[in-house]
Amino acid sequence: MANKTVTLTDNSTGKTTELPLLNGTCGTPVLDVRSLNKELGCFTFDPGFKATASCQSEITYLDGAKGELLYRGYPIEQLAEQCSFLEVCYLLLHGELPNEQARDEFVANISSHTMINEGLRVFLDGFRYDAHPMAIMTGVVGSLSAFYHDSLNIYDPEQRMMTAHRLIAKMPTIAAAAYKHSIGEPAMYPRNDLSYTGNFLYMMWGRPTEAYEPDPVAEKALDVLFLLHADHEQNASTSTVRLAGSSQTNPFGAIAAGTASLWGPAHGGANEAVLRMLDEIGSVSNIDKFLARAKDKNDPFRLMGFGHRVYKNFDPRAKIIKKMAHKVLENYGDDPRMELALHLEEIARKDDYFVKRNLYPNVDFYSGIIYQALGIPYNMFTVMFTIGRTVGWIAHWMEMVSDPKMVIGRPRQLYTGHGPRDVPSLKKR
Ligand code: CMC
Repeated sequence: MANKTVTLTDNSTGKTTELPLLNGTCGTPVLDVRSLNKELGCFTFDPGFKATASCQSEITYLDGAKGELLYRGYPIEQLAEQCSFLEVCYLLLHGELPNEQARDEFVANISSHTMINEGLRVFLDGFRYDAHPMAIMTGVVGSLSAFYHDSLNIYDPEQRMMTAHRLIAKMPTIAAAAYKHSIGEPAMYPRNDLSYTGNFLYMMWGRPTEAYEPDPVAEKALDVLFLLHADHEQNASTSTVRLAGSSQTNPFGAIAAGTASLWGPAHGGANEAVLRMLDEIGSVSNIDKFLARAKDKNDPFRLMGFGHRVYKNFDPRAKIIKKMAHKVLENYGDDPRMELALHLEEIARKDDYFVKRNLYPNVDFYSGIIYQALGIPYNMFTVMFTIGRTVGWIAHWMEMVSDPKMVIGRPRQLYTGHGPRDVPSLKKR
């Protein structure tokens, strides 16, 4: 993998070391600094990991300059056009797309795990009616570790795969139950005769008192949204899952940690923040005022749904979602927020501040408009992201744990606190 090296010299001692430059299949080469401390007695400093490859992975590749996203080598546009979410789950977990038989077996397998333990229902009932669904998700997903711990050997590939199936299958059930709890309705039991997404819609909108059949437009739109959110290499929540999992902890606990990380408005919480921002902007005539605030360094306001750590071009997922938002609105009726979002994008994309910094709409900019059209409340938007991203988290966890060279993640620091000093007596403090 390494055919080039980079030579580093410590100017104070004149000591030199050669570091290998590693090439992946695609993308920027990475400098292997593992011998740096031994050779030159120093560490690297990179807050926010802006220049650090934290692991080696074969799952997802994204090229931020081109605006390209590949799952296991397949372009996201082709997957969104030709595959279902569950086929993509199979791809992420196994490395290849399933043939018809493998797909049917996988779908049946996932369906067999959609129920949650009755004990979890009691747990759900313990939350206040106004608890944020992401708080419920974090707690309930973490509590799955209590149901599957003693029997789980993380070094057994079959048990890892069983954990993956359980998580993918139970996330929609937990998510819908969290929603039902917030509106005071009984949680629905899953219906395995429906598709993965159809069953989720049923558990969201169905009631024990009447028949419900999912709308195919909503089912397709949500399935594509889950697929587009399925993985995104080493983002904050996936890195959190890897770091938590690297201590060999229970995987349900590691996924709960990832769920908590996703919740933040700089990450998956941005989809909820976008709609709240559009509501606050209110009309096209206010856009300039809000853009000025986004550009003001003394104002913490940021244009939500804009910008990305890696994409310095259009986020390919945002392009697909924007098109789909138009299609969904054709069926569900216009939403003035779509008009507002289109204007906001147009104005921001011409503004020097955004142009110079390569700030484009990201995956969260238009997704909320679709969720809103489907009747999904704001505080459930990040839950939708969680359902989609679960497979990515678990695929990365499986990749990490199956590596015989796995080590616990343990970064170093640049310490700038006090040097050693004596504890003064209470009277002298
Ligand atoms: N509005 C205004 N200015 C921005 C924005 C924004 N949305 N995003 C970045 N900037 C500016 C930032 O102030 C900085 O300016 P300067 O160079 O003058 O200091 C420059 O652009 C570079 O930004 P950064 O903060 O260094 O970039 P980052 O890689 O640390 O942050 C980000 C990436 C996604 C956290 C950020 O763009 C942001 O906060 N966006 C809004 C929240 C959002 O939409 N998040 C969803 C991300 S995509 C889905 C996901 O990850 O879950």
